[in-house]
Order: sequence, then structure tokens, then C-alpha cells
Amino acid sequence: MEIVRRILRMKEIVRGWHRQGRTIGFVPTMGYLHEGHLSLIRESKRMTDHTVVSIFVNPLQFGPREDYDRYPRDLDRDVEILSRESVDVLFYPSVEDMYPPGYRTYIDVEGLSQKWEGASRPGHFRGVATVVCKLFHIVQPDFAFFGQKDAQQFVILRRMVQDLNMDVELIQLPIVRESDGLAMSSRNVYLSPEERTVAPRLYQALQVGRRLVQEEGERDAEKIVEAVRSFLAQEPRIRIDYVALVDLEDLEPIETVRGPALLAAAIYLGPTRLIDNVTLNTK
Ligand code: PAJ
Repeated sequence: MEIVRRILRMKEIVRGWHRQGRTIGFVPTMGYLHEGHLSLIRESKRMTDHTVVSIFVNPLQFGPREDYDRYPRDLDRDVEILSRESVDVLFYPSVEDMYPPGYRTYIDVEGLSQKWEGASRPGHFRGVATVVCKLFHIVQPDFAFFGQKDAQQFVILRRMVQDLNMDVELIQLPIVRESDGLAMSSRNVYLSPEERTVAPRLYQALQVGRRLVQEEGERDAEKIVEAVRSFLAQEPRIRIDYVALVDLEDLEPIETVRGPALLAAAIYLGPTRLIDNVTLNTK
């Protein structure tokens, strides 16, 4: 595996692959890799000739009071994992090279970026869309792989790719979970042992909603959201940020579940913010 720090070197490798008619798969990450990231990498390896993984803790997508400085980082461990997976290139650019002095261009996917996660994290998706747009231009992938864990991020990036006529196909893969149901996340290391025992309640609450729809035939979104909220409220250490039952395409709240829909939630557990979601099917 080659570790590439410089943008020009990354572009040179990609030019060579494209000249030989090879396909490129790309998995953008912020590092501190876990099995969720690995599922994306393995699918990229399966579908494409060459796989590039990026590790870049993107300052632009963190708010001023968020965890940019203490976001977990362990490059040595990540390098070991990626070598074992036989990834072709780890792209690991510096903040100075990605955003040099005088940097002024940003991507704003309007509307979609302001709700749910965006309402609690102003500027977050502007940072995400901007960095992913830059990374796509540098890596020029045929396919890029994302997790359903960040469902809103995927909807926003899909819109960006379509609106800006980018030649990349986005692939979304299911959420990888711990054995007790907690969605894997680099941020789970923030949880105290006690919070960690409470954390699986988030997924349990979403399953309460899913069961209501898929086993009991409930279709009234308000009732489903209320059931999820009251399950979460049983645990005093959980503070609800939002519970949303939304359309999979435009993320607008729905009143009645008629087809596939997204049930998503964000909670605070102590200082740590956790997100999770499930898709609901009516068939
Ligand atoms: P990061 O949080 O490192 O996640 C990288 C990718 O892994 C994202 O597509 C995310 O949805 C996926 N992922 C995270 N946890 C997962 C899980 N439990 N199961 C399956 N996939 C999972 O998302 C980002 O980084 C950044 O916003 C980024 C896109 C890299 C832009 O900076």
C-alpha cells in the first residue's frame, strides 16, 4: 500500500490507472477505522480494480464547539488495518494542502443541509460537501462508498453529484453494528463504561418504531415517532435531539407511511451525540 500525502502525487497515480482503463473505488473517511469502514473498503475491492481510502479529519465540517481537536486519531493502527485489507492507496492529505491560505470555495447543497443533523450542526454539511467534492476531483473515482449510518450525508452528496454532473456513482452500504446493536462509530470511544451500557437503547428505540410499522401495521407517523420518543425517555441519561420519520429522497417529514421511509434519531448521552437510523418497509 502506498501512503500518499501530496495532492499532485495522488492525481498522478489516478491518471496512470485511468490511462490503463482501470476502475477506481474510493472510500472517504476521517480515520480511526472500524468494521463499518471496512465493509465499505471490502465492497470497493470487490467492485473495482483499485481502491483508494482517504483519512482526513476535515476541520470545515466541525462547529466551533465541536470535537475537532479531540476527534480520535490513530494513524499507525489505521495503516496496519488498511495494509491488511490490501488497499492500493491511503490518501492522507494535510489541512494546509487541502485548505491553503486564500481558500474561498464552498459547496452548499441548499435546503437538504439545513434540516435534522444540519439544524443541530450548522455548517456541517457545507464542510462535508466541500471536502467530498475536492476529494472526488483529486481521486477521480468511478465508484465511491458510503455508510447508511450517515443517511442524510448520503442524500446530500447524491444531490451534489447529480447537480454538478460528476462522473461518480455513489454506493450506500448498511450500518455495521456491535453485537448489542449499537451502530459502530469512531465517536463511541467517548462513551464512559456506564454510558456505553445505555447506548444500545437508541437502536432499540428505532426497532420499536420499525416493529410498529412492519408487524403491527401502524402507518401514522406521529404515533410511530411518539413511540420511539417515549421509549428513549424511559432512560433519564438520554436527551433526545430529534426523532424523524422522513421521505428517503427529500428528507421531509411524512404523515403516513406508504412506502419505504427513513426513521432517524439523534440523542445526547452525557456530552456525546449519537445518531442512528433504520429504513421502514411496508411490504
Ligand atoms: P467517517 O465518520 O469516518 O465515516 C466514513 C464512512 O464510513 C461514511 O460513509 C460513514 O457513513 C461510514 N460509516 C461510519 N460508521 C459506519 C457503520 N457503523 N456502518 C457502516 N458505515 C459506517 O462520514 C465521514 O467520515 C465524513 O463526513 C466524510 C464523508 C469522510 C467527509 O469528511
